[in-house]
Amino acid sequence: MSLWCVTVALLGLLTPALSTDPGVIVQLTQQGLEYGRQIGIASLQQKLNSIKIPDISGSEDVSPIGKVEYSLSQMHITNLGLPASSLGLVPGSGLSLSISDAFISLNGHWHVKYLKFIKDSGSFDLTVSGLTISVTMGVNSDETGRPTVSSSNCAASVGHVSIEFHGGASWLYNLFSSFIENALRSAIQNQICPLVHDAISDINPHLKTMNVLAQVDKYAEIEYSLVTSPVVSNTFIQFSLKGEFYKIGQHQEPPFSAPPFSLPQTNGSMLYLGLSSFIANSAGFVYHNAGVLGLYVTDDMIPSSSPLRLNTKTFGAFIPEIAKRFPNMMMKLLVKTLEPPRITFEPNNVTLQANGTVTAYAILPNNTLEALFILNLEASVSAELHVSGLNIAGSVTLNRISMTLGTSYVGQFQVMPLNNIFTMILKVVVIPKVNEKLQQGYPLPAISHMNLVNTQLKVLKVKRNKSKKGYQQALLVLNKNYIQEVVTLNGFWLWIYATDLRGNDTL
Ligand SMILES: *[C@@H]1O[C@H](CO)[C@@H](O)[C@H](O)[C@H]1NC(C)=O
Ligand SMILES: *[C@@H]1O[C@H](CO)[C@@H](O)[C@H](O)[C@H]1NC(C)=O
Ligand SMILES: *[C@@H]1O[C@H](CO)[C@@H](O)[C@H](O)[C@H]1NC(C)=O
Ligand SMILES: *[C@@H]1O[C@H](CO)[C@@H](O)[C@H](O)[C@H]1NC(C)=O
Ligand SMILES: *[C@@H]1O[C@H](CO)[C@@H](O)[C@H](O)[C@H]1NC(C)=O
Repeated sequence: MSLWCVTVALLGLLTPALSTDPGVIVQLTQQGLEYGRQIGIASLQQKLNSIKIPDISGSEDVSPIGKVEYSLSQMHITNLGLPASSLGLVPGSGLSLSISDAFISLNGHWHVKYLKFIKDSGSFDLTVSGLTISVTMGVNSDETGRPTVSSSNCAASVGHVSIEFHGGASWLYNLFSSFIENALRSAIQNQICPLVHDAISDINPHLKTMNVLAQVDKYAEIEYSLVTSPVVSNTFIQFSLKGEFYKIGQHQEPPFSAPPFSLPQTNGSMLYLGLSSFIANSAGFVYHNAGVLGLYVTDDMIPSSSPLRLNTKTFGAFIPEIAKRFPNMMMKLLVKTLEPPRITFEPNNVTLQANGTVTAYAILPNNTLEALFILNLEASVSAELHVSGLNIAGSVTLNRISMTLGTSYVGQFQVMPLNNIFTMILKVVVIPKVNEKLQQGYPLPAISHMNLVNTQLKVLKVKRNKSKKGYQQALLVLNKNYIQEVVTLNGFWLWIYATDLRGNDTL
């Protein structure tokens, strides 16, 4: 290795990590879009039904009568259908929504005035058919690292308009109904795109609820902001999120960075959420530095059914000097990490390795602690993870420990014979405490009202990428029923239809 390489390598170690590789990748697939389209169209249909059409009036010269003043009022929708629609991915740009063969039927009142004094009125039925709407939705990231959507290239056209007049001098209308048809056609056409645009803009407040900074507990928060703009391929939209634990309010980077990471070919599910082992390791870094990866173990934490007690009698059997110098005293242990634990993801196996120390104290009659010895401890545990609501939670089981003597204040002794005692203490005291914490779970990236239903979780390891360091990942496969609850809450983010089609100038 040349000096240059060494220098570069050292600089790499010293400069804070500025990697844009994500810790979390979310992929929303065509299936997810399809599900959303169905919900969205149903919702849009409902919204359109409440649209109020403004009155139309004007005058026409009808030979031989002359000028006829007319007005159409009290128009309301009697039927509306959106039978054909599609929501597609446009690689590199966004989504395209197209609706075709839509129809709207209206009923209203007509009034005419002609020959200066003749007035007449009746009702009419209007049907707008062959309505097509197409719009492109761009997906971007805003300055807070949340996704945003925008609309462009909206086009709406009405294929056919037909009106039937009833009552009074309705024959008169038939003489100039084509003028009215055209007026209504352009009134409707002109109003659709602004409404579609508003509807798409209305998704953004929902996107703004994304938990880009998810608080975990009093020590840590997870940053889930987008590290790059969302990427649209022909099978999914991908959101690359930071996915990193930080001490609350103090975003210091760990001495390692997120390795490059990508999801494998996806199939079948609506949403895929991949978590790199980086996010777990950043958690280890934060909690270790916060000094909370430690626990005092006292005798009362050991089940009363255990014959093994945490006292100098027990340890005195292995280390005679303890029995001699500290007879009949209770003991206390401090188990803590020496460096951040290292978490690795293997296929279907998450392993956590930690180096720490166990310090043993005798509790003197006046309650002061007297250090007896310090052991170096290397422990390996396996984790089971699961998704619970919008949290990822887990539990660990002990694989193995290995101990060596660090410092002794009670003379030299063999550590090996103590293995069973410490294994028991870890199993019945320390691991249950860790699991209590892990069971509470850690928030996943989410948007308000979003729910994950029917989730599966897999841990995968992807081939090492030769041009970068090896990388690992966990994959959560979130299945079909996803979003179900969102619908009823009417707040999901992706669907323009799930939001209000509000506006003062309606059709
Ligand atoms: C997706 O692919 C994986 C591996 O290729 C396979 O095991 C799984 O059954 C597939 N899932 C669906 C829903 O097709
Ligand atoms: C997981 O991996 C660790 C380390 O390689 C191993 O000790 C442990 O037995 C494995 N657990 C399972 C359930 O495969
Ligand atoms: C624990 O310490 C050993 C020996 O120093 C080292 O090889 C290993 O990488 C350390 N493990 C962790 C998780 O830091
Ligand atoms: C407690 O007792 C020990 C030994 O008898 C003595 O060395 C120590 O100073 C005492 N500590 C206090 C706070 O009284
Ligand atoms: C490996 O990483 C490099 C650099 O990020 C990237 O260009 C390349 O596509 C990756 N290869 C694979 C197989 O992912």
